[in-house]
Amino acid sequence: MLGIVFTEFMEMVEDQFSADVLDDVLDSSNLDSEGAYTSVGYYDHQEMIRMVVALSKKVNLPVDDLIETFGQHLFGVLISKYPTLRGDIDSALDFLETVDSTVHIQVKKLYPNAELPEFDCERISNDRLNLHYRSKRPFSVLALGLIKGCGEFFGDTLEVSHSSREEKGFYLTDFVVVDVHE
Ligand code: HEM
Repeated sequence: MLGIVFTEFMEMVEDQFSADVLDDVLDSSNLDSEGAYTSVGYYDHQEMIRMVVALSKKVNLPVDDLIETFGQHLFGVLISKYPTLRGDIDSALDFLETVDSTVHIQVKKLYPNAELPEFDCERISNDRLNLHYRSKRPFSVLALGLIKGCGEFFGDTLEVSHSSREEKGFYLTDFVVVDVHE
């Protein structure tokens, strides 16, 4: 997993909790990298999972809630780091439709070792998008947070429902994303 995901996670822990909480999380996670991440390095995604589990125990919040909040934060970071990816898109659903076909493809060109999920998109109507997530890694809750962060970024109120299953070593999640125009 690309280092920026780790460096941003550590920054969020420090901002939302404290530097002491971050130190405890790093100490108790048994990390091969010892937490010495750089934004362009690659690290085992299990380290991310170990850190989130350690944080969950430390601050007594569910793992999924922490990952979702992190995804929301991460969207803002990624879109400001790569502003050209937005182009002239001005709605969350339009942008989400480009993640698989454009955004992650550009990411892969920049970082050939990036491990990205796949999304099949079905635009049901102007206000409704079905996204089918498929990955070898269990990060669909991160996707949920990224989808919500995308809604916030574009100022769109999204209702997101999802259901997950595992099949032949893949994690699959069907998201239904509705723009409720509040
Ligand atoms: C500006 C927009 C975005 C950029 C630049 C971006 C870039 C990235 C990068 C760099 C990674 C890490 C790759 C690695 O670990 O090697 C990643 C992973 C991921 N991205 Fe995106 N992303 C964006 C938007 C989104 C959105 C909107 C979603 C959700 C629909 C999404 C879903 C994911 C997920 C779930 C992962 C974790 C890997 C996995 O599940 O297998 N991304 N993305």
